[in-house]
Amino acid sequence: MKNLKDLYINYFVSKGHTKIPSAPIVPENDPSVLFNTAGMQPLIPYLMGQTHPSGTRLCDYQKCVRLTDLEEVGDKTHHTFFEMLGNWSLGDYFKKESIAFSFEFLTSILNIPLERLAVTVFEGNDQIPRDEESANLWNMHGIPKERIAYLGVEDNFWAAGETGPCGSDTEIFYWRSDDEIPEKFDKEDDRWVEIWNNVFMEFNREADGTIKMLPKKNVDTGMGYERIVAVVEGVTDNYASSVWIPVIKKIEEISSLPYKGNEKAMRIIADHIRTSVFIAADPAGIVPSNTDQGYILRRLIRRAIRYAKQLGIDINSNWEQEIAKEIISLYQNYYLEIKENANNVLKILVDEKNKFNRTLEKGLKEFEKIVTKTNEIDGLNAFHLYDTYGFPIELTIELATERKMKVDEEGFKKHFLDHQEKSRTASAGKFKGGLAGDGEIETKYHTATHLLNAALKIVIGPDTHQKGSNITVDRMRFDFNCDHKLTEEEKEKVENLVNQWIKEDLTVTKEEMSKQKALELGAEAMFIEKYPDIVNVYFIGNISKEICGGPHVTKTSELGHFKIKKEEASSAGVRRIKAILD
Ligand code: ALA
Repeated sequence: MKNLKDLYINYFVSKGHTKIPSAPIVPENDPSVLFNTAGMQPLIPYLMGQTHPSGTRLCDYQKCVRLTDLEEVGDKTHHTFFEMLGNWSLGDYFKKESIAFSFEFLTSILNIPLERLAVTVFEGNDQIPRDEESANLWNMHGIPKERIAYLGVEDNFWAAGETGPCGSDTEIFYWRSDDEIPEKFDKEDDRWVEIWNNVFMEFNREADGTIKMLPKKNVDTGMGYERIVAVVEGVTDNYASSVWIPVIKKIEEISSLPYKGNEKAMRIIADHIRTSVFIAADPAGIVPSNTDQGYILRRLIRRAIRYAKQLGIDINSNWEQEIAKEIISLYQNYYLEIKENANNVLKILVDEKNKFNRTLEKGLKEFEKIVTKTNEIDGLNAFHLYDTYGFPIELTIELATERKMKVDEEGFKKHFLDHQEKSRTASAGKFKGGLAGDGEIETKYHTATHLLNAALKIVIGPDTHQKGSNITVDRMRFDFNCDHKLTEEEKEKVENLVNQWIKEDLTVTKEEMSKQKALELGAEAMFIEKYPDIVNVYFIGNISKEICGGPHVTKTSELGHFKIKKEEASSAGVRRIKAILD
Protein backbone atom coordinates (compact mmCIF):
# COMPACT_ATOMS: atom_id res chain seq x y z
CA MET A 1 0.00 0.00 0.00
CA LYS A 2 1.05 3.58 -0.59
CA ASN A 3 2.27 5.46 2.45
CA LEU A 4 -0.78 6.44 4.46
CA LYS A 5 0.44 10.02 4.77
CA ASP A 6 0.28 10.36 1.00
CA LEU A 7 -3.15 8.73 0.84
CA TYR A 8 -4.40 11.13 3.45
CA ILE A 9 -3.03 14.25 1.80
CA ASN A 10 -4.17 13.18 -1.66
CA TYR A 11 -7.67 12.54 -0.38
CA PHE A 12 -8.04 15.91 1.32
CA VAL A 13 -6.42 17.78 -1.56
CA SER A 14 -9.02 16.15 -3.81
CA LYS A 15 -11.62 17.67 -1.50
CA GLY A 16 -10.30 21.18 -2.01
CA HIS A 17 -7.78 21.33 0.84
CA THR A 18 -4.34 22.89 0.49
CA LYS A 19 -1.45 20.93 1.94
CA ILE A 20 0.54 23.10 4.33
CA PRO A 21 4.02 22.14 5.55
CA SER A 22 4.53 20.78 9.06
CA ALA A 23 5.54 23.58 11.40
CA PRO A 24 8.84 23.13 13.29
CA ILE A 25 8.69 20.87 16.29
CA VAL A 26 9.75 23.75 18.54
CA PRO A 27 6.90 26.27 18.30
CA GLU A 28 7.89 29.43 16.52
CA ASN A 29 5.34 31.76 17.99
CA ASP A 30 4.20 30.11 21.16
CA PRO A 31 6.64 30.32 24.02
CA SER A 32 4.15 28.65 26.35
CA VAL A 33 5.08 25.11 25.32
CA LEU A 34 8.34 23.27 24.71
CA PHE A 35 7.14 21.39 21.65
CA ASN A 36 4.18 21.25 19.33
CA THR A 37 1.80 18.72 20.83
CA ALA A 38 -1.04 18.83 18.28
CA GLY A 39 -1.52 19.61 14.64
CA MET A 40 -3.71 22.59 15.45
CA GLN A 41 -1.17 24.36 17.63
CA PRO A 42 0.58 26.31 14.86
CA LEU A 43 -2.86 27.20 13.49
CA ILE A 44 -4.27 28.84 16.61
CA PRO A 45 -4.18 32.41 15.21
CA TYR A 46 -6.19 31.24 12.17
CA LEU A 47 -8.68 29.30 14.26
CA MET A 48 -9.11 32.54 16.21
CA GLY A 49 -10.04 34.40 13.03
CA GLN A 50 -6.91 35.52 11.18
CA THR A 51 -6.93 34.85 7.42
CA HIS A 52 -4.68 31.95 6.44
CA PRO A 53 -2.67 32.61 3.27
CA SER A 54 -3.41 29.08 1.98
CA GLY A 55 -7.18 29.42 2.21
CA THR A 56 -9.99 28.00 4.30
CA ARG A 57 -9.40 24.24 3.75
CA LEU A 58 -6.06 22.96 4.95
CA CYS A 59 -4.42 19.62 5.59
CA ASP A 60 -1.02 18.44 6.77
CA TYR A 61 0.95 15.99 8.83
CA GLN A 62 2.45 17.72 11.83
CA LYS A 63 5.43 16.62 13.89
CA CYS A 64 4.45 16.45 17.55
CA VAL A 65 6.28 15.64 20.78
CA ARG A 66 4.35 14.74 23.92
CA LEU A 67 6.47 14.42 26.99
CA THR A 68 3.71 13.27 29.27
CA ASP A 69 4.22 9.84 27.77
CA LEU A 70 7.99 9.68 28.10
CA GLU A 71 8.02 7.24 31.00
CA GLU A 72 5.37 5.07 29.33
CA VAL A 73 7.50 4.45 26.27
CA GLY A 74 8.48 0.80 26.17
CA ASP A 75 4.95 -0.59 25.87
CA LYS A 76 3.13 -1.29 22.62
CA THR A 77 1.53 2.06 22.01
CA HIS A 78 3.45 4.98 23.48
CA HIS A 79 5.80 7.28 21.62
CA THR A 80 7.38 10.58 22.54
CA PHE A 81 7.27 11.70 18.92
CA PHE A 82 4.37 11.16 16.60
CA GLU A 83 2.93 12.57 13.44
CA MET A 84 -0.59 13.93 13.50
CA LEU A 85 -2.63 13.90 10.33
CA GLY A 86 -4.97 16.89 10.30
CA ASN A 87 -7.53 18.59 8.13
CA TRP A 88 -9.07 21.95 8.90
CA SER A 89 -11.97 24.08 7.88
CA LEU A 90 -11.43 27.72 8.78
CA GLY A 91 -14.98 29.01 8.67
CA ASP A 92 -15.64 26.85 5.61
CA TYR A 93 -17.45 23.51 6.01
CA PHE A 94 -18.71 22.21 9.35
CA LYS A 95 -20.12 18.98 10.76
CA LYS A 96 -21.78 17.52 7.69
CA GLU A 97 -18.77 17.61 5.37
CA SER A 98 -16.27 16.86 8.12
CA ILE A 99 -18.07 13.67 9.11
CA ALA A 100 -18.59 12.69 5.46
CA PHE A 101 -14.86 13.16 4.69
CA SER A 102 -13.76 11.10 7.69
CA PHE A 103 -16.24 8.37 6.93
CA GLU A 104 -15.27 8.15 3.28
CA PHE A 105 -11.54 8.21 3.97
CA LEU A 106 -11.75 5.42 6.54
CA THR A 107 -14.18 3.14 4.73
CA SER A 108 -13.42 3.79 1.05
CA ILE A 109 -9.75 4.77 0.97
CA LEU A 110 -8.42 2.72 3.89
CA ASN A 111 -11.13 0.08 3.44
CA ILE A 112 -11.85 -0.22 7.13
CA PRO A 113 -15.02 -2.31 7.56
CA LEU A 114 -17.97 -0.30 8.83
CA GLU A 115 -18.76 -2.94 11.45
CA ARG A 116 -15.47 -2.22 13.22
CA LEU A 117 -16.31 1.46 13.76
CA ALA A 118 -18.06 3.30 16.58
CA VAL A 119 -18.31 7.00 17.38
CA THR A 120 -18.92 9.28 20.32
CA VAL A 121 -20.59 12.69 20.29
CA PHE A 122 -21.15 15.42 22.88
CA GLU A 123 -24.07 14.83 25.25
CA GLY A 124 -24.51 18.56 25.92
CA ASN A 125 -24.40 20.71 29.06
CA ASP A 126 -25.95 24.00 30.27
CA GLN A 127 -24.02 25.99 27.70
CA ILE A 128 -23.83 23.77 24.64
CA PRO A 129 -26.69 21.59 23.33
CA ARG A 130 -26.51 17.85 22.78
CA ASP A 131 -24.94 17.10 19.41
CA GLU A 132 -27.85 15.39 17.69
CA GLU A 133 -26.65 16.70 14.37
CA SER A 134 -23.42 14.68 14.40
CA ALA A 135 -25.21 11.61 15.73
CA ASN A 136 -27.74 11.81 12.88
CA LEU A 137 -25.02 12.29 10.32
CA TRP A 138 -23.13 9.21 11.53
CA ASN A 139 -26.31 7.21 11.58
CA MET A 140 -27.09 8.29 8.03
CA HIS A 141 -23.70 6.94 6.95
CA GLY A 142 -24.62 3.60 8.43
CA ILE A 143 -23.22 3.66 11.97
CA PRO A 144 -25.92 1.95 14.07
CA LYS A 145 -27.41 3.80 17.06
CA GLU A 146 -25.81 1.37 19.57
CA ARG A 147 -22.43 2.38 18.24
CA ILE A 148 -23.06 6.10 18.77
CA ALA A 149 -22.40 7.12 22.35
CA TYR A 150 -23.24 10.49 23.88
CA LEU A 151 -20.54 11.48 26.35
CA GLY A 152 -19.73 14.47 28.52
CA VAL A 153 -17.14 17.20 28.65
CA GLU A 154 -14.27 14.90 29.70
CA ASP A 155 -14.69 12.81 26.57
CA ASN A 156 -16.24 14.98 23.91
CA PHE A 157 -15.05 18.53 24.43
CA TRP A 158 -11.59 19.46 23.23
CA ALA A 159 -9.41 22.43 24.06
CA ALA A 160 -5.71 22.92 23.52
CA GLY A 161 -5.28 24.65 26.87
CA GLU A 162 -6.88 26.64 29.63
CA THR A 163 -7.75 29.39 27.20
CA GLY A 164 -8.14 29.57 23.43
CA PRO A 165 -10.17 27.91 20.70
CA CYS A 166 -12.19 24.88 21.71
CA GLY A 167 -15.39 23.00 20.99
CA SER A 168 -17.32 19.79 21.23
CA ASP A 169 -15.96 16.90 19.22
CA THR A 170 -16.88 13.60 17.72
CA GLU A 171 -14.40 10.76 18.12
CA ILE A 172 -14.09 7.71 15.94
CA PHE A 173 -13.19 4.34 17.44
CA TYR A 174 -11.98 1.12 15.87
CA TRP A 175 -12.48 -2.41 17.27
CA ARG A 176 -8.90 -3.62 17.53
CA SER A 177 -9.29 -7.21 18.55
CA ASP A 178 -10.05 -10.63 17.12
CA ASP A 179 -12.78 -11.08 19.74
CA GLU A 180 -16.33 -10.85 18.53
CA ILE A 181 -17.39 -7.24 18.04
CA PRO A 182 -20.03 -6.25 20.60
CA GLU A 183 -23.13 -4.56 19.27
CA LYS A 184 -22.88 -1.66 21.64
CA PHE A 185 -19.93 0.68 22.05
CA ASP A 186 -18.48 0.73 25.56
CA LYS A 187 -15.99 3.44 26.41
CA GLU A 188 -14.50 1.34 29.21
CA ASP A 189 -13.57 -1.46 26.82
CA ASP A 190 -10.06 -0.72 25.59
CA ARG A 191 -10.41 -2.97 22.60
CA TRP A 192 -12.18 0.07 21.15
CA VAL A 193 -9.30 2.38 20.25
CA GLU A 194 -9.77 6.00 19.31
CA ILE A 195 -8.42 6.71 15.85
CA TRP A 196 -9.67 10.15 14.87
CA ASN A 197 -10.92 13.23 16.60
CA ASN A 198 -13.00 15.86 14.79
CA VAL A 199 -13.33 19.00 16.87
CA PHE A 200 -16.02 21.51 16.01
CA MET A 201 -14.15 24.59 17.10
CA GLU A 202 -16.70 27.32 17.42
CA PHE A 203 -15.78 28.73 20.84
CA ASN A 204 -13.00 30.59 22.54
CA ARG A 205 -12.39 30.07 26.25
CA GLU A 206 -11.32 33.33 27.83
CA ALA A 207 -9.04 33.84 30.82
CA ASP A 208 -12.01 34.08 33.23
CA GLY A 209 -13.32 30.71 32.02
CA THR A 210 -16.24 32.05 30.01
CA ILE A 211 -16.93 30.60 26.59
CA LYS A 212 -17.61 32.97 23.69
CA MET A 213 -18.44 32.27 20.06
CA LEU A 214 -15.48 32.57 17.69
CA PRO A 215 -15.98 34.80 14.64
CA LYS A 216 -16.18 31.65 12.48
CA LYS A 217 -17.06 28.00 12.99
CA ASN A 218 -14.01 25.84 12.34
CA VAL A 219 -13.24 22.17 12.16
CA ASP A 220 -9.97 20.82 13.59
CA THR A 221 -9.20 17.16 13.22
CA GLY A 222 -6.37 14.97 14.38
CA MET A 223 -5.47 11.38 13.62
CA GLY A 224 -2.33 9.81 15.06
CA TYR A 225 -0.31 8.38 12.19
CA GLU A 226 1.41 5.59 14.12
CA ARG A 227 -1.87 4.29 15.47
CA ILE A 228 -3.84 4.36 12.22
CA VAL A 229 -1.03 2.57 10.40
CA ALA A 230 -1.04 -0.14 13.06
CA VAL A 231 -4.83 -0.43 12.75
CA VAL A 232 -4.74 -0.70 8.98
CA GLU A 233 -1.94 -3.25 9.11
CA GLY A 234 -3.77 -5.27 11.74
CA VAL A 235 -1.12 -5.22 14.47
CA THR A 236 -1.70 -4.41 18.12
CA ASP A 237 1.94 -3.48 18.72
CA ASN A 238 2.60 -0.13 17.02
CA TYR A 239 6.28 -1.07 16.82
CA ALA A 240 5.37 -4.07 14.68
CA SER A 241 3.89 -1.84 11.97
CA SER A 242 5.70 -0.66 8.85
CA VAL A 243 6.43 2.65 10.61
CA TRP A 244 8.92 0.89 12.86
CA ILE A 245 9.88 -2.39 11.25
CA PRO A 246 13.04 -1.08 9.53
CA VAL A 247 14.23 0.59 12.75
CA ILE A 248 13.56 -2.46 14.93
CA LYS A 249 15.31 -4.64 12.33
CA LYS A 250 18.34 -2.39 12.52
CA ILE A 251 18.42 -2.70 16.32
CA GLU A 252 18.10 -6.48 16.05
CA GLU A 253 21.01 -6.49 13.65
CA ILE A 254 23.20 -4.28 15.83
CA SER A 255 22.44 -6.16 19.05
CA SER A 256 22.29 -9.63 17.46
CA LEU A 257 19.15 -10.18 19.50
CA PRO A 258 15.57 -10.83 18.43
CA TYR A 259 12.81 -8.24 19.05
CA LYS A 260 10.81 -10.91 20.82
CA GLY A 261 11.85 -10.96 24.44
CA ASN A 262 13.64 -7.61 24.13
CA GLU A 263 10.69 -5.46 23.18
CA LYS A 264 10.88 -2.86 25.90
CA ALA A 265 14.53 -1.88 25.38
CA MET A 266 14.22 -1.94 21.61
CA ARG A 267 11.11 0.22 21.61
CA ILE A 268 12.74 2.74 23.92
CA ILE A 269 15.86 2.92 21.77
CA ALA A 270 13.83 3.23 18.56
CA ASP A 271 11.49 5.87 19.97
CA HIS A 272 14.12 7.95 21.74
CA ILE A 273 16.55 8.03 18.85
CA ARG A 274 13.76 8.99 16.46
CA THR A 275 12.59 11.84 18.70
CA SER A 276 16.20 12.97 19.19
CA VAL A 277 16.72 13.06 15.42
CA PHE A 278 13.68 15.29 15.02
CA ILE A 279 14.57 17.62 17.89
CA ALA A 280 18.18 17.94 16.78
CA ALA A 281 17.13 18.60 13.16
CA ASP A 282 14.68 21.34 14.10
CA PRO A 283 15.52 24.81 12.80
CA ALA A 284 15.49 26.06 16.41
CA GLY A 285 19.04 24.66 16.68
CA ILE A 286 18.56 22.63 19.88
CA VAL A 287 21.62 20.89 21.34
CA PRO A 288 21.79 18.72 24.47
CA SER A 289 21.97 20.88 27.59
CA ASN A 290 20.64 21.06 31.12
CA THR A 291 17.64 23.24 30.39
CA ASP A 292 14.44 23.24 28.38
CA GLN A 293 14.36 21.41 25.05
CA GLY A 294 18.08 20.73 25.30
CA TYR A 295 17.51 18.84 28.53
CA ILE A 296 14.80 16.71 26.93
CA LEU A 297 17.19 15.88 24.09
CA ARG A 298 19.87 14.95 26.60
CA ARG A 299 17.48 12.78 28.61
CA LEU A 300 16.30 10.94 25.50
CA ILE A 301 19.79 10.23 24.21
CA ARG A 302 21.07 9.15 27.63
CA ARG A 303 18.07 6.89 28.23
CA ALA A 304 18.57 5.28 24.83
CA ILE A 305 22.23 4.68 25.67
CA ARG A 306 21.35 3.02 28.93
CA TYR A 307 18.96 0.63 27.19
CA ALA A 308 21.48 -0.07 24.43
CA LYS A 309 23.94 -1.06 27.13
CA GLN A 310 21.30 -3.26 28.69
CA LEU A 311 20.93 -5.09 25.38
CA GLY A 312 24.66 -5.71 25.38
CA ILE A 313 25.33 -3.34 22.49
CA ASP A 314 28.86 -1.95 22.54
CA ILE A 315 27.86 1.60 23.39
CA ASN A 316 31.14 2.96 22.09
CA SER A 317 30.47 1.59 18.62
CA ASN A 318 28.54 3.66 16.10
CA TRP A 319 25.22 1.94 16.91
CA GLU A 320 23.31 5.19 17.35
CA GLN A 321 24.61 6.51 14.02
CA GLU A 322 23.31 3.42 12.28
CA ILE A 323 19.88 3.72 13.85
CA ALA A 324 19.70 7.46 13.22
CA LYS A 325 20.71 6.98 9.58
CA GLU A 326 17.89 4.49 9.14
CA ILE A 327 15.44 6.99 10.64
CA ILE A 328 16.78 9.81 8.49
CA SER A 329 16.31 7.71 5.36
CA LEU A 330 12.73 6.92 6.36
CA TYR A 331 11.72 10.55 6.95
CA GLN A 332 13.90 12.72 4.75
CA ASN A 333 11.46 12.75 1.87
CA TYR A 334 8.73 14.05 4.11
CA TYR A 335 10.69 16.59 6.12
CA LEU A 336 13.26 18.71 4.38
CA GLU A 337 15.11 19.64 7.56
CA ILE A 338 15.83 15.98 8.26
CA LYS A 339 17.67 15.76 4.96
CA GLU A 340 19.39 19.12 5.25
CA ASN A 341 20.50 18.77 8.85
CA ALA A 342 21.38 15.07 8.73
CA ASN A 343 25.10 15.56 9.34
CA ASN A 344 24.53 17.93 12.19
CA VAL A 345 22.06 15.51 13.79
CA LEU A 346 24.56 12.65 13.58
CA LYS A 347 27.23 14.82 15.15
CA ILE A 348 24.99 15.92 18.00
CA LEU A 349 24.20 12.28 18.75
CA VAL A 350 27.79 11.10 18.70
CA ASP A 351 29.02 14.01 20.83
CA GLU A 352 26.39 13.46 23.48
CA LYS A 353 27.01 9.72 23.43
CA ASN A 354 30.74 10.18 23.90
CA LYS A 355 30.16 12.59 26.73
CA PHE A 356 27.80 10.27 28.59
CA ASN A 357 29.76 7.10 27.88
CA ARG A 358 32.72 8.55 29.74
CA THR A 359 30.79 8.56 32.99
CA LEU A 360 28.00 6.01 32.56
CA GLU A 361 29.97 2.94 33.63
CA LYS A 362 31.36 4.62 36.72
CA GLY A 363 27.98 6.14 37.51
CA LEU A 364 26.28 2.75 37.39
CA LYS A 365 28.95 1.34 39.73
CA GLU A 366 28.40 4.24 42.06
CA PHE A 367 24.66 3.60 41.91
CA GLU A 368 25.24 -0.06 42.86
CA LYS A 369 27.37 1.07 45.78
CA ILE A 370 24.67 3.44 46.98
CA VAL A 371 21.92 0.84 46.83
CA THR A 372 23.81 -1.67 48.94
CA LYS A 373 23.95 0.87 51.74
CA THR A 374 20.47 2.28 51.84
CA ASN A 375 16.76 1.72 51.21
CA GLU A 376 16.06 5.11 49.73
CA ILE A 377 18.31 7.18 47.49
CA ASP A 378 18.60 10.43 49.33
CA GLY A 379 18.83 13.86 47.74
CA LEU A 380 22.57 14.14 48.16
CA ASN A 381 23.30 10.83 46.43
CA ALA A 382 20.88 11.63 43.61
CA PHE A 383 22.56 14.98 43.17
CA HIS A 384 25.99 13.34 43.23
CA LEU A 385 24.90 11.00 40.40
CA TYR A 386 23.65 14.00 38.45
CA ASP A 387 26.54 16.31 39.07
CA THR A 388 29.44 13.87 38.80
CA TYR A 389 28.15 11.23 36.42
CA GLY A 390 25.61 13.16 34.36
CA PHE A 391 22.66 11.02 35.42
CA PRO A 392 19.46 12.93 34.73
CA ILE A 393 17.32 12.66 37.87
CA GLU A 394 14.75 10.74 35.83
CA LEU A 395 17.38 8.09 35.07
CA THR A 396 18.20 7.66 38.75
CA ILE A 397 14.48 7.34 39.49
CA GLU A 398 14.10 4.75 36.77
CA LEU A 399 17.06 2.72 38.04
CA ALA A 400 15.72 2.96 41.58
CA THR A 401 12.21 1.94 40.55
CA GLU A 402 13.64 -1.18 38.94
CA ARG A 403 14.95 -2.02 42.43
CA LYS A 404 11.63 -1.08 43.98
CA MET A 405 13.40 1.79 45.68
CA LYS A 406 12.45 5.41 46.03
CA VAL A 407 14.42 8.57 45.38
CA ASP A 408 14.07 11.66 47.53
CA GLU A 409 13.23 14.02 44.69
CA GLU A 410 12.58 16.97 46.97
CA GLY A 411 15.99 16.46 48.53
CA PHE A 412 17.53 16.33 45.08
CA LYS A 413 15.86 19.60 44.11
CA LYS A 414 17.12 21.23 47.26
CA HIS A 415 20.72 20.19 46.57
CA PHE A 416 20.33 21.24 42.99
CA LEU A 417 19.13 24.72 43.92
CA ASP A 418 21.71 25.08 46.71
CA HIS A 419 24.38 24.23 44.22
CA GLN A 420 23.15 26.86 41.79
CA GLU A 421 23.05 29.39 44.56
CA LYS A 422 26.60 28.49 45.62
CA SER A 423 28.01 28.81 42.12
CA ARG A 424 26.34 32.14 41.86
CA THR A 425 27.79 33.38 45.12
CA ALA A 426 31.16 31.94 44.24
CA SER A 427 31.19 33.73 40.92
CA ALA A 428 30.08 36.96 42.50
CA GLY A 429 32.99 36.55 44.93
CA LYS A 430 35.45 35.92 42.16
CA PHE A 431 34.18 38.93 40.32
CA LYS A 432 35.08 41.18 43.21
CA GLY A 433 38.60 39.89 43.01
CA GLY A 434 38.64 40.64 39.30
CA LEU A 435 38.97 36.99 38.32
CA ALA A 436 36.61 36.19 35.52
CA GLY A 437 35.35 32.64 35.88
CA ASP A 438 32.99 30.88 33.50
CA GLY A 439 30.09 30.71 35.89
CA GLU A 440 30.29 34.40 36.55
CA ILE A 441 30.31 35.42 32.90
CA GLU A 442 27.49 33.09 32.07
CA THR A 443 25.48 34.45 34.98
CA LYS A 444 25.92 37.96 33.62
CA TYR A 445 24.86 36.93 30.16
CA HIS A 446 21.87 35.19 31.67
CA THR A 447 20.71 38.44 33.24
CA ALA A 448 21.47 40.30 30.02
CA THR A 449 19.04 38.04 28.11
CA HIS A 450 16.23 39.25 30.41
CA LEU A 451 17.15 42.87 29.73
CA LEU A 452 17.35 42.24 26.00
CA ASN A 453 13.99 40.48 26.06
CA ALA A 454 12.45 43.51 27.82
CA ALA A 455 14.10 45.99 25.43
CA LEU A 456 12.83 44.13 22.35
CA LYS A 457 9.32 44.29 23.70
CA ILE A 458 9.57 48.05 23.85
CA VAL A 459 11.32 48.56 20.51
CA ILE A 460 9.68 45.86 18.34
CA GLY A 461 6.37 45.37 20.13
CA PRO A 462 4.79 43.77 23.19
CA ASP A 463 4.23 40.45 21.40
CA THR A 464 7.93 39.90 20.99
CA HIS A 465 9.06 36.88 22.98
CA GLN A 466 12.15 34.80 23.49
CA LYS A 467 12.35 31.78 21.21
CA GLY A 468 15.62 30.41 22.42
CA SER A 469 18.97 31.38 23.80
CA ASN A 470 22.43 30.04 24.12
CA ILE A 471 25.22 31.36 26.26
CA THR A 472 28.96 30.75 26.10
CA VAL A 473 31.75 32.56 27.90
CA ASP A 474 32.29 34.67 24.79
CA ARG A 475 28.82 35.79 23.84
CA MET A 476 25.10 35.41 24.19
CA ARG A 477 22.72 34.38 21.46
CA PHE A 478 19.08 35.27 21.67
CA ASP A 479 16.24 34.26 19.33
CA PHE A 480 12.94 36.10 19.22
CA ASN A 481 9.91 36.30 16.99
CA CYS A 482 9.98 39.25 14.61
CA ASP A 483 8.85 39.53 11.02
CA HIS A 484 11.63 41.78 9.75
CA LYS A 485 15.33 42.42 9.85
CA LEU A 486 16.03 44.97 12.56
CA THR A 487 16.95 48.39 11.23
CA GLU A 488 20.13 50.12 12.45
CA GLU A 489 17.92 52.46 14.40
CA GLU A 490 16.07 49.62 16.13
CA LYS A 491 19.33 47.91 17.05
CA GLU A 492 20.66 51.13 18.48
CA LYS A 493 17.51 51.69 20.50
CA VAL A 494 17.69 48.18 21.92
CA GLU A 495 21.35 48.58 22.83
CA ASN A 496 20.75 51.95 24.42
CA LEU A 497 17.87 50.70 26.52
CA VAL A 498 19.85 47.73 27.85
CA ASN A 499 22.84 49.94 28.63
CA GLN A 500 20.61 52.51 30.28
CA TRP A 501 19.19 49.82 32.59
CA ILE A 502 22.68 48.57 33.34
CA LYS A 503 23.69 52.11 34.32
CA GLU A 504 20.60 52.54 36.46
CA ASP A 505 22.00 49.69 38.57
CA LEU A 506 18.62 48.00 38.95
CA THR A 507 18.21 45.38 41.63
CA VAL A 508 17.58 41.80 40.58
CA THR A 509 15.30 39.96 42.97
CA LYS A 510 13.86 36.51 43.06
CA GLU A 511 10.45 35.51 44.33
CA GLU A 512 9.02 32.04 44.65
CA MET A 513 5.33 31.70 43.73
CA SER A 514 2.82 29.42 42.09
CA LYS A 515 3.04 29.11 38.33
CA GLN A 516 -0.53 30.38 38.13
CA LYS A 517 0.31 33.54 40.05
CA ALA A 518 3.40 34.15 37.91
CA LEU A 519 1.30 33.98 34.77
CA GLU A 520 -1.32 36.26 36.25
CA LEU A 521 1.43 38.74 37.03
CA GLY A 522 2.32 38.63 33.37
CA ALA A 523 5.76 37.11 33.92
CA GLU A 524 7.53 36.05 30.74
CA ALA A 525 7.58 32.28 30.56
CA MET A 526 9.32 30.53 27.77
CA PHE A 527 8.59 26.92 28.58
CA ILE A 528 5.55 26.86 30.76
CA GLU A 529 4.82 23.18 30.17
CA LYS A 530 8.03 22.17 31.82
CA TYR A 531 7.90 24.29 34.94
CA PRO A 532 6.94 22.82 38.27
CA ASP A 533 3.91 24.21 40.09
CA ILE A 534 6.10 26.47 42.14
CA VAL A 535 8.44 28.64 40.14
CA ASN A 536 11.02 31.35 40.64
CA VAL A 537 10.25 34.69 39.10
CA TYR A 538 13.16 37.07 38.61
CA PHE A 539 12.34 40.76 38.73
CA ILE A 540 14.72 43.38 37.40
CA GLY A 541 13.68 46.78 38.75
CA ASN A 542 10.26 47.24 37.25
CA ILE A 543 11.34 46.58 33.70
CA SER A 544 11.40 42.79 33.59
CA LYS A 545 9.74 39.81 35.22
CA GLU A 546 10.46 36.31 33.99
CA ILE A 547 9.99 32.77 35.20
CA CYS A 548 13.51 31.43 35.29
CA GLY A 549 15.73 29.01 37.14
CA GLY A 550 18.55 31.56 37.38
CA PRO A 551 21.27 32.17 38.34
CA HIS A 552 21.42 35.93 37.97
CA VAL A 553 23.57 38.81 39.16
CA THR A 554 22.12 40.88 41.98
CA LYS A 555 22.65 44.34 40.44
CA THR A 556 22.55 45.18 36.76
CA SER A 557 25.67 47.36 37.00
CA GLU A 558 27.65 44.11 37.20
CA LEU A 559 26.98 43.56 33.51
CA GLY A 560 29.34 46.27 32.27
CA HIS A 561 28.45 47.26 28.73
CA PHE A 562 26.12 45.53 26.27
CA LYS A 563 26.84 45.43 22.55
CA ILE A 564 24.99 43.77 19.66
CA LYS A 565 27.47 42.08 17.34
CA LYS A 566 25.12 40.56 14.84
CA GLU A 567 21.45 40.37 13.93
CA GLU A 568 20.32 37.71 11.47
CA ALA A 569 17.49 35.36 10.51
CA SER A 570 17.21 32.20 12.58
CA SER A 571 14.17 30.53 11.04
CA ALA A 572 10.90 31.68 9.53
CA GLY A 573 9.63 34.58 11.63
CA VAL A 574 12.47 34.27 14.11
CA ARG A 575 15.47 36.60 14.32
CA ARG A 576 18.69 36.00 16.18
CA ILE A 577 20.85 38.49 18.02
CA LYS A 578 24.41 37.77 19.05
CA ALA A 579 25.67 40.15 21.66
CA ILE A 580 28.54 40.56 24.07
CA LEU A 581 29.17 42.19 27.40
CA ASP A 582 32.44 44.10 27.53
N1 ALA B 1 -6.76 19.00 18.12
C1 ALA B 1 -7.42 17.76 18.23
C2 ALA B 1 -6.56 16.71 18.92
O1 ALA B 1 -5.40 16.93 19.12
C3 ALA B 1 -7.88 17.28 16.91
O2 ALA B 1 -7.07 15.68 19.27
